[in-house]
Amino acid sequence: MSIYFGADYYPEHWPEERWEKDAQLMEEIGLNVVRMAEFSWAKMEPRLGEFNFEWLDRALDILGEHGVRAVLGTPTPTPPAWIVEQTPEIFPIDKDGRVRGFGGRHHDCQSNPVYRAHIRRFVTAMAEHFKDNPNVIGWQIDNELGTGHQDTCMCDSCRKRFQEWLEKKYGTIEELNRAWGTCFWSQDYNSFSQIYTPKITFTGENPSAMLDWRRFTSDLVVEFQQFQIDIIRSICPNQFITHNFMGFADNVSYYDLAKSLNFVCHDQYPGGFFAQMPHQPNAQLAATLDLMRSVKHRTYWIMEQQAGITGWQVMGRAPQPGQLAMWAQQSIAHGADCIVFFRWRTCAVGTEQYWHGILPHSGRPGRRYNELRAMISAMQPVMEKIQGSVPKCEVGIVYSYDQEWAMTIQPHHPDLHYIGQVVKYYRALYDCNIPVDFLSGEEDFSPYKLIIAPLQYILTPEQAEKYRAYVKNGGHLVMTMRTGVKDATNLCMTESELPGLLSDVLGIEIPEYDCLQGLNGRVRFEDGGEYDVEKWSDMIELHGAQSIADYAKEFYAGTPAVTCNAFGSGRAYYVGSEPSDELMDRLCGLFVEGSGVASLGETPEGVEITHRHVEASNEDIIFVINHNEAPAEVSIPSGWDPVLAEEGSIMKPFEVRIYSRKA
Ligand code: GAL
Ligand code: ZN
Repeated sequence: MSIYFGADYYPEHWPEERWEKDAQLMEEIGLNVVRMAEFSWAKMEPRLGEFNFEWLDRALDILGEHGVRAVLGTPTPTPPAWIVEQTPEIFPIDKDGRVRGFGGRHHDCQSNPVYRAHIRRFVTAMAEHFKDNPNVIGWQIDNELGTGHQDTCMCDSCRKRFQEWLEKKYGTIEELNRAWGTCFWSQDYNSFSQIYTPKITFTGENPSAMLDWRRFTSDLVVEFQQFQIDIIRSICPNQFITHNFMGFADNVSYYDLAKSLNFVCHDQYPGGFFAQMPHQPNAQLAATLDLMRSVKHRTYWIMEQQAGITGWQVMGRAPQPGQLAMWAQQSIAHGADCIVFFRWRTCAVGTEQYWHGILPHSGRPGRRYNELRAMISAMQPVMEKIQGSVPKCEVGIVYSYDQEWAMTIQPHHPDLHYIGQVVKYYRALYDCNIPVDFLSGEEDFSPYKLIIAPLQYILTPEQAEKYRAYVKNGGHLVMTMRTGVKDATNLCMTESELPGLLSDVLGIEIPEYDCLQGLNGRVRFEDGGEYDVEKWSDMIELHGAQSIADYAKEFYAGTPAVTCNAFGSGRAYYVGSEPSDELMDRLCGLFVEGSGVASLGETPEGVEITHRHVEASNEDIIFVINHNEAPAEVSIPSGWDPVLAEEGSIMKPFEVRIYSRKA
């Protein structure tokens, strides 16, 4: 049975008499999967060892009769009151040393052995109970791992685990002292047992210790997930295991978290999101989806797709007619094989009363239900055709958690954000309708004509060698300010001038730099074109490279700001500042032209074109998406056959058209 559309369903919030009606309405709208139970521990085990799965069995039966299968979540983000009452030491401790208490969710320390024992006991019982239920097709571990706590937990149990992690990594305390540069401010340790979790200090923090803390907490979350995966896999070998990610959230490396999952899921809330680029939300949304496809370089599910107004205490805008359907189709266009809407029915109880579902509080189908029903029935045949297909991308953008963590520890400029930089480069390509893969850096670079690697701040000899080989063999590489500054343990490199290990590839040296606090910089091209730059200026000396644009301001006016070097049979560009959008567009034009990367076509502002390549039929499918609340005029390139498309060149607000062509 093929699963394409679903909803997040919480039958325990509603009287049992309603469940049949819900299942009927789900069948009628075209849903055939629900996710359930990821917060329902107290309902499934009201007292120690007293299991109550029967309510869920009954819900699964009713849903099953209407052709609706289920993914069950392990309810480990919400240990019940009886657990924390007996063992309050599982409450997490924040950076300020305060206990985070009961009443929300994620009030659990993920390393605590007592909590782990409860999880082993409960997840084993749950898996045993549902392993042979034909209506249960898979599992989700916990919920949005890594984002639940604002801080990572700093309790004694986590401290002990951190010490063990460090001992495994460094072997001896002398090696740790060297790697962390503890000679500064008398921070030398005599033994691993002296090391603390980084609770709030009076002044400053050690950047090397902080980076290892971020790596450790990421590993801890991955291991916490693996602990549950091992239990479920051994009991339920025929059901898949997945997890719901959150785009650019950064508390855990999603590359690592994805490794032992069958596929990843993502939660997409265009109207209620933490946005790095609030002024360019469409590019931000697209980048998020492309990242989710890229963590495993395969298709994904949306486990929570916005279904109405978002909000807890305050609310977002009401999605306009057509907008919810369009956002769901955008998720598909970037590689989703299944869309599960959050949530089925708007909740009457608890924190999320205003995070709206497909059905309103009243439970009566209305505008959102009808809109999604029409979209689902139109998309079903398309979904069948494109299952498993991903775009063929000629451009890769490197996105690395190490850079994100190191730049968050020392952002240099108050407004400089690694993810913001990454998405800025992405935006310029997105506006040209050029499909992009994100790269962890571990992939084979050779299929890409152009690789953009912003802020390669931490640079190991192995990574440098990989970039060098890529360019030497004909690749086009774009690198930026603050490349090659730090070694793997976040110490400054001292052997040569910046960009250190890649000076030869880039054909430049950077003996000095300027942090642009409180002013913008400016650059000028030979043709007289001038553009703003922000936040940072590298002062570049040419050692073989050519200048593309020079600074036009400050004491280094007339010296290179953007350069290009021919190296081997490829080209290496260096951008010494953060380009304004206009400059980014011009530079992107140069990179694209130089590397021969193809665009999917030209569109007016707010209209994107995305593609998926279907191997089996050797077909390309394109999605043309009008994000505008106004009509847009588009010209569809010739040779494309309509799969799901109205005729004429005027697209309605939020309209999506789909075409295909033999590749
Ligand atoms: C997600 C989360 C859901 C729900 C939703 C709306 O981040 O996974 O459980 O909380 O947001 O707030
Ligand atoms: Zn802890």
